[in-house]
Amino acid sequence: ISTMSVAYKDQLYAELKKQHNQNGTLFEDPEFPATNSSVYYTKTPPEGLQWKRPGEICENPRLFVEGISSHDLNQGTQGNCWMVAACASLALRRDLWENVIPDWKEQEWDSNYAGIFHFRFWIFGQWTDVVIDDWLPTDKHGRLINCHSKQNNEFWSALLEKAYAKLFGCYESLVGGNTGDAVVDFSGAVAEAIDLQKEKYNEQDKLFGNLLKVWEHNGIISSSINTQEFELESRMDNGLVRGHAYSVTDVKRVSLGHGLQTHFKNETIPLIRLRNPWGKAEWTGAWSDSSEEWSKVGDAERSNLGITVADNGEFWMSFTDWCKNFTDVDICHLMNTSLISIRKNWNEKVHFGKWTRNSDPLLNRCGGCTNHMETFLQNPQYLFDVTKESDKVLISLQQKDRRIYRKEGQGENLSIGFTILKVEVNRKYRLHKYVTQQEMNEFNHTNSRTVFNRIELPQGRYVVIPTTFKPFIEGEFMLRLYTDVDSGCRSNQICALESRDIVIKSSLRSAWSKTSSINPYVIISCEGQSVRSTTKKNSLTPVFEFSAIFYRKKVAEPLTVQLWTDDLGSDKFLGEVLLYGRPDDVSHTQHLQLKNKGSKKADNMPGKIILMIETSNELTAF
Ligand SMILES: *[C@@H]1O[C@H](CO)[C@@H](O)[C@H](O)[C@H]1NC(C)=O
Ligand SMILES: *[C@@H]1O[C@H](CO)[C@@H](O)[C@H](O)[C@H]1NC(C)=O
Ligand SMILES: *[C@@H]1O[C@H](CO)[C@@H](O)[C@H](O)[C@H]1NC(C)=O
Ligand SMILES: *[C@@H]1O[C@H](CO)[C@@H](O)[C@H](O)[C@H]1NC(C)=O
Ligand SMILES: *[C@@H]1O[C@H](CO)[C@@H](O)[C@H](O)[C@H]1NC(C)=O
Repeated sequence: ISTMSVAYKDQLYAELKKQHNQNGTLFEDPEFPATNSSVYYTKTPPEGLQWKRPGEICENPRLFVEGISSHDLNQGTQGNCWMVAACASLALRRDLWENVIPDWKEQEWDSNYAGIFHFRFWIFGQWTDVVIDDWLPTDKHGRLINCHSKQNNEFWSALLEKAYAKLFGCYESLVGGNTGDAVVDFSGAVAEAIDLQKEKYNEQDKLFGNLLKVWEHNGIISSSINTQEFELESRMDNGLVRGHAYSVTDVKRVSLGHGLQTHFKNETIPLIRLRNPWGKAEWTGAWSDSSEEWSKVGDAERSNLGITVADNGEFWMSFTDWCKNFTDVDICHLMNTSLISIRKNWNEKVHFGKWTRNSDPLLNRCGGCTNHMETFLQNPQYLFDVTKESDKVLISLQQKDRRIYRKEGQGENLSIGFTILKVEVNRKYRLHKYVTQQEMNEFNHTNSRTVFNRIELPQGRYVVIPTTFKPFIEGEFMLRLYTDVDSGCRSNQICALESRDIVIKSSLRSAWSKTSSINPYVIISCEGQSVRSTTKKNSLTPVFEFSAIFYRKKVAEPLTVQLWTDDLGSDKFLGEVLLYGRPDDVSHTQHLQLKNKGSKKADNMPGKIILMIETSNELTAF
């Protein structure tokens, strides 16, 4: 991820700080003023709300006291635990927080202090540098009302929260959210939401294995217990809090037994460590701080795990209990797309797009999901190729954050999702018509900021279509696609409107030949263009799920489909069929006898090709 950043509201930190240093004044941010409306938009502010600079709150204010740690944080009184949990995850990762808190040494209180700070967030695919002044909202006793550190002279978390709130126009806009989304904004990661209630009990081992892998690959995990609106953040008997975001701070298979026994019995238990952003209130069940389960673990392993019996909000749970008690997990994958690496790298393609309205169906770009088949293909389309025999494809569709419109009562997420369709191997233009036999993978729509899915696809060309659930809804999105091998994913917004006469599409089902050679492939040619299928190994009756599309001018010239075999490196011709594909031709499946070519054109060759050909005068017919 590139760390090049743009200045939010064109405010340049270094320049502003220099100016204020020169004239000896403290920065006052006109873009996010210290007024009630920067804190609340629905609630009336509590009596005695006052803004203070850190120097008025304590002596010797610092950005960091004894470094940065996930234990630094306290949530405060507004419901933004999701963001605080993300901060806690951030604090565990120096490579990440150094991006978010740039030149932190320079920002530390010293003789150049000018009441100005800056932070960096990854907003909709762009690192964005946000400048703030250090006026912070406090209650009538002068205590910080929002996120703050346990050490009362440490301010990184309160200032970071202020910068994040500025992006959304108001502190109250941060109430209620998703930790995964905040982690994405802090890192550029790809967020994946998992519904634990849908995961079957017998898949727990697999889930643990996945989480362990994500954790070991530096991914960021958080989890929560969903709740009805009216019981937000209520504590249960077992100590857990509903409607509350916890950051996962370790995932581990812990060895049971003492001394040598540990080695010989080789028994382990999957455990997970969580942190409550309140900095207190822990799980009280099995494997909690002073629970008897810990007597099953040897001293060495215990000190390895750093078990503390303090009510610091951090605790262990068995993975089984965690699965039972938590409902939602957010996994943030830090995709390693660096080119020079020995480790598994992902090939990334990023596209920004818009759903836009137009009364002309050829220009409309908000057609809704497949419930609206007549308009569905009027959405933005992106072509990509799977060039290996099969490849794992990860797709993340993120809509532009709408939190900033909350003040105006319009902060609702759109319901979004996407569909993947297999298309002709040589398709260049937009897909204009859906045919029922076309292979389609549709993913559910949700009204969350991001939808993420993974799918294994066989070799071929595909189009991915991001959609809103309902048609004619406008919005902006960012589409990210990850594959093992470059997918060449590209925006495909051009309609087939060039001045050609006829569009012809042939879909090959299967072919057979009695010849003993057995690595067959086909070549479809039309007006000097040809397309080759993959080679089927060892098959006398190969099935090719293969279609091609051509735009041609000369109606009289046939389209040829040739069957070849790769016979130990030398290619051998097995026969061909010629098709005239006139616009009024039938378009059902045909069984055609293979013929020889050249001067022996009329001779039969042993074997048949089964295919379908469709032709149209209308260029946007397919
Ligand atoms: C938008 O989606 C996110 C999850 O991605 C959620 O936390 C947030 O509350 C949603 N916003 C609204 C207004 O529903
Ligand atoms: C313990 O079990 C794990 C997996 O079950 C295995 O990989 C490991 O080699 C075993 N260790 C010993 C000392 O037996
Ligand atoms: C939480 O886990 C405990 C221990 O497994 C279990 O007894 C309890 O029913 C779980 N709570 C919920 C709400 O599932
Ligand atoms: C990504 O790969 C590079 C090169 O191997 C490596 O230096 C870097 O640590 C990796 N990043 C992550 C987040 O794993
Ligand atoms: C899609 O939603 C339907 C209905 O809510 C649900 O039954 C199905 O499991 C979902 N599919 C996926 C892949 O999540």
